[in-house]
Amino acid sequence: DHEPRIAELLGRMTVDEKLGQLQQLAWAWDTGPGGGDTAAAEAAARKGLLGSVLNVVGAEASNALQRIAVEESRLGIPLVFGLDVIHGYHTTFPIPLAQAAAFDPAVTAVDAEVSAREARSNGIHWTFSPMMDVTREPRWGRIAESIGEDPYLTSAYAVAKVRGYQGEDLTAPDRIAACAKHFVAYGGAEGGRDYNTVDVSEQRLRNLYLPPFKAAVEAGAATVMAAFNTVSGVPAHANTHALTGILKQEWDFDGVVVSDWTGVQELIAHGVAADEAEAARRSLTAGVDMEMVSTTFVDHGRDLLASGALTEERLDDAVARVLRLKLRLGLFERPYVEESAALTAPSAEARAAAREAAGRCMVLLKNDGDTLPLDAAALRSLAVIGPFADSGDLLGTWTLPGAPEAVPVLTGLREALPDTVISHVEGASAEGTDTSGFAAAVAAAEAADAVVLVVGEPPALSGEAAVRGELGLPGVQEQLAEAVAATGTPCVVVLVGGRPLTIGGWAQRVPAVVMAWHPGIEAGPAVADVLTGAVVPGGKLPVTFPRSVGQIPLYYNHERTGRPYDPAAPEVKYVSRYLDLADGPEFCFGHGLSYTTFALGEPRLSREQLAAGDLEAGATVEVTVAVRNTGDRTADEVVQLYVQDPAASIAQPVRRLRGFTRVRLAAGEEREVRFTLGAEDLGFWTNDTAGTFVVEPGEIHLHTGTSSRTRSRRTLLIT
Ligand code: IFM
Repeated sequence: DHEPRIAELLGRMTVDEKLGQLQQLAWAWDTGPGGGDTAAAEAAARKGLLGSVLNVVGAEASNALQRIAVEESRLGIPLVFGLDVIHGYHTTFPIPLAQAAAFDPAVTAVDAEVSAREARSNGIHWTFSPMMDVTREPRWGRIAESIGEDPYLTSAYAVAKVRGYQGEDLTAPDRIAACAKHFVAYGGAEGGRDYNTVDVSEQRLRNLYLPPFKAAVEAGAATVMAAFNTVSGVPAHANTHALTGILKQEWDFDGVVVSDWTGVQELIAHGVAADEAEAARRSLTAGVDMEMVSTTFVDHGRDLLASGALTEERLDDAVARVLRLKLRLGLFERPYVEESAALTAPSAEARAAAREAAGRCMVLLKNDGDTLPLDAAALRSLAVIGPFADSGDLLGTWTLPGAPEAVPVLTGLREALPDTVISHVEGASAEGTDTSGFAAAVAAAEAADAVVLVVGEPPALSGEAAVRGELGLPGVQEQLAEAVAATGTPCVVVLVGGRPLTIGGWAQRVPAVVMAWHPGIEAGPAVADVLTGAVVPGGKLPVTFPRSVGQIPLYYNHERTGRPYDPAAPEVKYVSRYLDLADGPEFCFGHGLSYTTFALGEPRLSREQLAAGDLEAGATVEVTVAVRNTGDRTADEVVQLYVQDPAASIAQPVRRLRGFTRVRLAAGEEREVRFTLGAEDLGFWTNDTAGTFVVEPGEIHLHTGTSSRTRSRRTLLIT
């Protein structure tokens, strides 16, 4: 119990020392505007006027700074060091959106465990991860850091990642505190423009954006970060309803709410605070506990307290939360790290884990005529073409400066296919307009038995403040793909990127496309594993791939309209559709092919009817479905369960994912997959701001399948 120690410390602290604990400053580099002033951070630490530092790298640097706080400040309170360890420290795993495609939270747990071990050994105590912003906006660059468009999938990953980072004991030398971010609804930015407005109904807030945060808090996430956006007119950094009402009171969260980089000061730019004093007041009273980079709390806290605008109780609560985090991390007992034990490079085991993860994340979008896997024995020559064929720039957004580059696809293929003559031509750069390399690319394609064309988006085009207005391949890559496809040589496209891309045109003229995302440090070997069949792809899309930017937002779990489009009656005019686009996505949520085939049986229910009251009291219903590998090789399938409430008091999504299981089956093997549904899966949050969850009487349709397009259905009656 840390509370007596917290009370004792609070009793000894001056107001300035208390405010100091609420300040976080940047160190070696900037992940936002302005930032790192190492001299200022050192001076504040020396005076005991600093609680935390972000972006310190290396055991020596963190120990040196910690020594100042612990040995030179009056109370010797240690600093807590934060860093964006998003999908790796030294060992970069696939981007989070790729991990989502594995439909296997264990993938993200392994990333978190490896990351925590490497980071903590270098003096990092706290990562600003996992990001759990559900989003329907592929233009938004931060979709790469997300788990995609579904709140259930995102919640499962949030829990796995929090546990992976934190383990059972935050004092352990291989664990770090997690940060559930960005609270809340950041993924709803209008137009996908980063930091933009979000106006969201209470029901959408509670049914779509909040569930992953609730799951993360229940899993023990030590901290939460406020979001840059407004939430229905009130910026998240000043949003009392979200930060205090929901997070701290409804959910009993006793950890730290940290601002985002200058997020408190930005209340002025948002137009809800006249000056920094008002920004500090609004933010602190709304529930932000620690301020990142801007300094309005330390600059104005004393005056706010004197005027009564800030209560002592609230100030002490914020400080207590910061001290609690430090105590949970064991920093008072062990403020330093063992410099000789610092991990300074990826280990062989960590690389192997990253390679396995990357293989599990890849999604086979199309595979006409069983073009894949490549037949290594018969393949005499292969042309490997494209701007990302021999590129190490496949780590993705948010990597540690100096993290080892990715192993290129070309290297991976050369290792996997030692008896094949492999030629390589870049053909074009990722974003340039020069087409002079096309002729060599076409010649190489014509001379080879098969082509692997590696095209897509560079990491710099996704992530924070990396928003795109068009989602095709950048530069002249689409023309390159068309030119290579026109040779008639069987062409496999490996698509890299941090978001859904619109690939409807050129991709129709190639037989096979693998979505490899940004696969991380072991990109090349992992791609080679999948192309040669050493690993059978089993990933599924965690986001809808639109045909055109004009369809955005396009997502599977949409509400019905009064006039839905019916593909059986395309001539009907007054329906919800685009006149100049075919209906629906290019690839739907949950889509992903395999090198084998699977057959699913009809779903069976443990009961066909039950009372809403029984559900609320904990009753459940089981849905069982048989899945059989009808092909000739061992492979994975993701069995998916969706629910739909066809007549509710407020409009419901046409489908909602409420269960998924990735199973590995040998050729001919059959297994039963079982899902358990309770009140949480069958009811919904209403528009009541006090937070009302209802399970309404009526029919619930249950759909099982291998994508969100499934048609097998059973009906459950809630009485
Ligand atoms: O953690 C990040 C956040 O996601 C975006 N702004 C900067 C923070 C710290 O680097």
